Amino acid sequence: MAMARAALSLVFFALFMVGEFSAVLSWKKEEFRNCDQTPFCKRARAKKPQSSPFSVSGVALENGRLTAILLPKPNSTSPFIQERGSDESQHLADGAISDREIQESRPLLIELSVYQDGILRLKVDESNDPAIKKRFQVPDVVVPELEQRKLLISTISTSSDGPSSTIHLTDGIEAVLRHDPFALDVRRSGTPDDLLLSLNSNGLFDFEQRRSSKDGEDWEERFRGHTDSRPRGPQSISFDLSFYDADFVYGIPEHASTSLGLQYTRGPGIDQSEPYRLFNLDVFEYLHESPFGLYGSVPLMLSHGPRGSNGFFWLNAAEMQIDVLSPGWDDGPSISSPEEKNTKNTKNKKKRIDTLWMSEAGIVDAFFFVGPAPKDVIRQYTRVTGSPALPQLFAVAYHQCRWNYRDEEDVANVDAGFDEHDIPYDVLWLDIEHTDGKRYFTWDKSLFPNPVEMQNKIGAKGRRMVTIVDPHIKRDESFGLHSEATEKGYYVKDSSGKDFDGWCWPGSSSYPDMLNPEIREWWANKFSLKDYVGSTPSLYIWNDMNEPSVFNGPEVTMPRDALHYGGVEHREVHNAYGYYFHMASAEGLLRRGGGKDRPFVLSRAFFAGTQRYGAIWTGDNTADWDHFKASVPMVLTLGLAGLTFSGADVGGFFGNPEPELLVRWYQLGAYYPFFRGHAHHDTRRREPWLFGAQNTARIREAIHIRYSLLPYYYTLFREASVSGTPVMRPLWLEFPNDPLTFNISDAFLVGDSLLVKGIFEERQKSVNVYLPGKESWFDVRSGMAYAGGRSHWLEASDDGVPAFQRAGTIIPRRERFRRSSTQMANDPFTLVVALNSSMEAEGELYLDDGRSFDYTEGAFIHRRFVFSNQTLHSSPVSVDRGVKVFSSDCVVERVVILGLPVKPHRAAVWPAGGEVEVEAGPLTLRPRAKTAAVVIRRPNLRIVDDWSLKLL
Ligand code: NOJ
Repeated sequence: MAMARAALSLVFFALFMVGEFSAVLSWKKEEFRNCDQTPFCKRARAKKPQSSPFSVSGVALENGRLTAILLPKPNSTSPFIQERGSDESQHLADGAISDREIQESRPLLIELSVYQDGILRLKVDESNDPAIKKRFQVPDVVVPELEQRKLLISTISTSSDGPSSTIHLTDGIEAVLRHDPFALDVRRSGTPDDLLLSLNSNGLFDFEQRRSSKDGEDWEERFRGHTDSRPRGPQSISFDLSFYDADFVYGIPEHASTSLGLQYTRGPGIDQSEPYRLFNLDVFEYLHESPFGLYGSVPLMLSHGPRGSNGFFWLNAAEMQIDVLSPGWDDGPSISSPEEKNTKNTKNKKKRIDTLWMSEAGIVDAFFFVGPAPKDVIRQYTRVTGSPALPQLFAVAYHQCRWNYRDEEDVANVDAGFDEHDIPYDVLWLDIEHTDGKRYFTWDKSLFPNPVEMQNKIGAKGRRMVTIVDPHIKRDESFGLHSEATEKGYYVKDSSGKDFDGWCWPGSSSYPDMLNPEIREWWANKFSLKDYVGSTPSLYIWNDMNEPSVFNGPEVTMPRDALHYGGVEHREVHNAYGYYFHMASAEGLLRRGGGKDRPFVLSRAFFAGTQRYGAIWTGDNTADWDHFKASVPMVLTLGLAGLTFSGADVGGFFGNPEPELLVRWYQLGAYYPFFRGHAHHDTRRREPWLFGAQNTARIREAIHIRYSLLPYYYTLFREASVSGTPVMRPLWLEFPNDPLTFNISDAFLVGDSLLVKGIFEERQKSVNVYLPGKESWFDVRSGMAYAGGRSHWLEASDDGVPAFQRAGTIIPRRERFRRSSTQMANDPFTLVVALNSSMEAEGELYLDDGRSFDYTEGAFIHRRFVFSNQTLHSSPVSVDRGVKVFSSDCVVERVVILGLPVKPHRAAVWPAGGEVEVEAGPLTLRPRAKTAAVVIRRPNLRIVDDWSLKLL
């Protein structure tokens, strides 16, 4: 019965998807290539599951790695040949290899390495042929520290049953390289049918080897008037990858969708759907529901089911397309291992989600993560690509942006407006119009004659400014940056070897070749206070259009046959161009501050590893309810892929939000990790006070909530910087055993203690909230307790979105409202203690100077608060400390306790001695707070000290 229900819901899910995607695909699709117009994608998709024509031989141990050779079997049928069928010439024109090439294939080299924490790495590349250019391996993404975590493989057990080679991965998990046909399984040790992940078990692995000549073949590809010369011919790679015991797969940002779980893209019940595309593009007015590629790409997929989570990451920066295959897609002969064949119709098989990965170029450099918990997968992934950088505290606060704040007077007025309306903000942003004719690092002298003075005035209130610096450089000989880049040969070249010239905001533009470390260094130096005239230490940076966006280029980007450093073709590095640009800009700010000021650079394009350099946002969304709703799964997905410092434009970029939508967006956006209001220049002004007193009050309240939670957010950002665990989390990250949470896309957790539910409909009167777990949840505004493990219908209040503190947690807040976060540095704390059914709770507070790197040498305060036996204790979190110290005179000025059955009268303080009154007081210090909670006022316990507070 349960199985029948599951099957039914899968069909429903598939049908829902057909409806959604086919409807949205009818839009603007002609501007961008679909799979059928992308030969490598079309060919790979046409293949049928089969016995893989590849087999493994020559398995050996070399420097602690397993190496082997992979070759098409003699007399085997290549998937290409099978697919080519009657229309051979067509497919050859599409770049398929001919029978001759199959016969002449050089052996592929396999390498398997193992790293601590259950990480398996598979590399497949061509053997070296001096006559042919090496394939591109993306450098600078895998962190150097990974090498230190490498475990030397010392034994390979071989089995003749197959045959296969087995290596130990981690406790209870092994990797099995099946020789003939070739496949790679990750499974629970010694249990052949207990698989976690498997590559090529459907036989779709293929690898187009490079050739030295095209022998009269036409390798060119044409799309909408653009010709890609493809001088190196076809070089795509594809393979199938199966996730076992998976109810859902997630990840592979960036796509717009209102669903967190990825949807089926092919198989029974799905017609005319596209694979998920990873190709960094500037998509004008993107659709809120589409598998098309957006601004950034992270080829990481996570799976989750009741038995746990797994992950797969393919480090490859070329265009990628990924199919999620619906059950039954592989009906027909399958090449499963003998063990798997036996289990074909068992539960294990049903829980499998098959995927097909296709890339235009590069190599296979793939990582398998064994979990078992979802947070383990994210940690394992960030061990490979790096942990998120700890942002400065100001960057975690509210940002005010608009295209454009016109001039210095406008800036001054907006800044004053926040003060007049008692709304805090930390950063005021200047978009492209602040420059002299879109020449970055310059100022429009008539609009911004005194930029330093302007920044200093803002800075005097503890606020910062941000200016935009895009990668397209105006081709204007009188512009120093351009003449220098030209002279030094620093631009990306077109296929003929000339500086690539494309159209962007400034008109004719060229793009620095950020793949080259020397050019990155040159770029970084442009951010020095000396070079960037008119900048000050309180100015930070916004990198936009770095996909890169080229208005007159194919699909609004750079031609794939453009050339980078080392002869690398743009097609090979495309998805990482923006990453390198972001990296160089962040390095610039680091240098500017003498290595003492944490950089803040927001980037639109991103790739795996971007989390080490700064924040990203979801680009040009629209001011409508659907885009608003899609923002939650989009930001959650980014967090799963390591990019926790992300958010969506609050209010929506295009169009004018109705005040109700704007208010709702602030109420929810106040919980995004990156919180910024932004708008297109054609929209009406929308500073928070322009919509009447009541709406101003509601927006003020939303921003105040964010400011009061800054200590909690900052503590969470620190956690992310250590473990990779995102600040904003899907419910299943904290409740991995509750299937009801697996595809919740309209609610999320902030850390493990706060649950937030959006209100995504106009004039919504009531809202249904699922509260997971056995413990209760306390409404953060009313203090009322709601039972966990069930859904509740609640009134949709105009004053805020539903938010709940989980019983058993302690959240640190700061409740004095100032102009900016800087001015809160010495403010006292409130601890909100939400008791669970055992009358216990715990939480943490992390604190440092909020701007330098001294914390890496021990200059921080990290406390753990535990409430049990009627007593709240504060003790240090034990971590390795360095030589520096951070001290603070801040005290806990209030302790608010939720869930106490009886109000005590007094509390005794230890070690200081003395007693304080316990009273009924408001839950928060905000003016609108009504409900009374148990409040201990002014215990004045120093945050640096160990202490206890006992209720009497
Ligand atoms: C596109 C960006 O996505 C948007 O945020 C910005 O305002 C415009 N470019 C102008 O710079």
